[in-house]
Amino acid sequence: MSNKIQTLSGYIHEYQKSVQDPDNFWGRIADSFYWHKKWDRVVDWDFEKPDVKWFVNGKLNITENLLEKHLFLLGDKPAIIWEPNDPKEAVRTITYRELYEMVCQFANAMKAQGVEKGDRVIIYMPMVPEAAVAMLACARIGAVHSVVFAGFSAKSLADRIEDCQAKMVLTSDGNFRGDKKIAVKKVVDEALENTSSVERVIVLKRTGHEVIMKDGRDIWWSDAIEGVSKENKAEVMDAEDMLFILYTSGSTGKPKGVVHTCGGYMVYTTYSFQNVFQYNSGDVYWCTADIGWITGHSYIVYGPLLAGATTLMFEGVPTYPNPGRFWAICDKHQVNQFYTAPTAIRALQVFGAEPLKPYALDSLKVIGSVGEPINEEAWHWYHDHVGKGKCPIVDTWWQTETGGVMVSPIAGVTPTKPSYATLPLPGVQLAILDNDGNELKGNSVEGNLCIKFPWPSILRTTYGDHERCRQTYFSSFKGYYFTGDGVKRDEDGYYRILGRVDDVINVSGHRMGTAEVENAINEHPKVVESAVVGYPHDIKGQGIYAYVICDMEGRSEENLKNEIRETVNKIIGPIAKPDRIQIVSGLPKTRSGKIMRRILRKIATGETSNMGDTSTLLNPDVVEEIIEGAANVS
Ligand code: WT7
Repeated sequence: MSNKIQTLSGYIHEYQKSVQDPDNFWGRIADSFYWHKKWDRVVDWDFEKPDVKWFVNGKLNITENLLEKHLFLLGDKPAIIWEPNDPKEAVRTITYRELYEMVCQFANAMKAQGVEKGDRVIIYMPMVPEAAVAMLACARIGAVHSVVFAGFSAKSLADRIEDCQAKMVLTSDGNFRGDKKIAVKKVVDEALENTSSVERVIVLKRTGHEVIMKDGRDIWWSDAIEGVSKENKAEVMDAEDMLFILYTSGSTGKPKGVVHTCGGYMVYTTYSFQNVFQYNSGDVYWCTADIGWITGHSYIVYGPLLAGATTLMFEGVPTYPNPGRFWAICDKHQVNQFYTAPTAIRALQVFGAEPLKPYALDSLKVIGSVGEPINEEAWHWYHDHVGKGKCPIVDTWWQTETGGVMVSPIAGVTPTKPSYATLPLPGVQLAILDNDGNELKGNSVEGNLCIKFPWPSILRTTYGDHERCRQTYFSSFKGYYFTGDGVKRDEDGYYRILGRVDDVINVSGHRMGTAEVENAINEHPKVVESAVVGYPHDIKGQGIYAYVICDMEGRSEENLKNEIRETVNKIIGPIAKPDRIQIVSGLPKTRSGKIMRRILRKIATGETSNMGDTSTLLNPDVVEEIIEGAANVS
């Protein structure tokens, strides 16, 4: 734990070292890991191609750093504590030694089913320890995992399988989520009807749903591991070999597969975990995310386990069986660090302080926030009611593409300010650029958030389409990684994230491309055209507002809206269902045919007093009509 920053002057000192001599800074941190062969160079990079390599020619296996490395000191200590959806079901505690055995055994089982180094494996599973085991078993044998959030539709799952040409799918019979039981294997079956690369499906029994097991393709998890050895020799990987692909939405229609590699991701997730949360040996750390998102990858599985922490995994939802569930879990397991999303805080805030009353919450030392800007009201509620005024809030800004936390207070070290992510972690060189690409120096400036030097867990490519990676992140501002977020640096040099400046919306911390939702809406046979924008939503942060042109014949508006929501549900999943749908006769367009989203965003937000210049529109009259119609939208 010698890499842990403990004072503000220590932070400033480390930050300066990381900028002045990144090779030495990261080389020293990477030294504390187990490598089969040390690297030749710490970093090689060129943001124009882009081409970034960390720990060049280093050889390692990330799971040896997470399992073998801890066996001697932590073998009998809990690695994972699992809290089931139903509080009456038994808790599972998995020690580092047990985790080692489970991972080795499942790694052997996957190999026996034909998976080899470099093959892609889709994980579509509930929040159970086996999901983490599945990820680690892939990493153990050098297979590339791609976790797909189990709330995504068969179509979304099929698209991802197809894009990465997955050879295997790991799934369960069903999922428990609150009072719902979801038939997961059925979704997999449907997805596989339209794809051809998958040779094997391994199915974990969880809910007891009846499932159809396809002969020669499907095998039960318990059968796959039956009699299989619990020892496995880890595959030696190059630092730049792929570790995983995680699909995320962008401003164009199709989600892209963000690629992370072994060495840099290992070093950065560990370092950031230890520093941001100030984890101490023996603490219980809990991140409420799902492993289907990057937060679950980096801060439920990899970061904490690499650091030898005890990580709590929760299967359920914040409001089941009642809105006190999070707090009950904190007390039950004596959680020390708690990490959640603003949308969860706001949803629980609605119930007031009552659900918190039965709980002491006195084990908490650090509370964190991630996924979207946290508004001041939610920040204060979290601080006062959950943190009891004594826990620092770490508001962590980062992205799927950054692999780890970029801007955040270091708990107890960095003075916090409500709704500010505060300062960059060591190694993170931020730049604020205006729209013409000029870097804005000094304080009290606002613009596009960019990063001008690589950090170890930066994405390396987008799977199968490197040009898309270049276009999306490295072409807007030459020589910079562009985040897609707007940011303000205040008079103290503190950073406040202002939200996306591109066509990406953030609904309950879930990232969505407006084009992606539009494409799904347009699949409805009666829809002619649609435009989707985000609008401020009390709980979700942003809600989805869809303007739709459609043929109404033979349908009531009500029915049509329901059908459209169902279409989106089927194509993407429930998280993408529009909150508001407005049927319109036309959309405001420029003379070149581009939809003027600026206008639609204003209408959705209710800011109709100043629409700006609409005279250049092809159809200026439609704006009035839309404003009028907006008043009765549901
Ligand atoms: C986008 C990335 C990183 C894990 C979860 C989301 C927004 C994320 C914050 C924060 C303000 C935030 C940004 C970012 N975002 N954290 N603390 N404050 N905004 O990962 O799905 O890749 O989304 O989420 O807009 O670009 P993601």
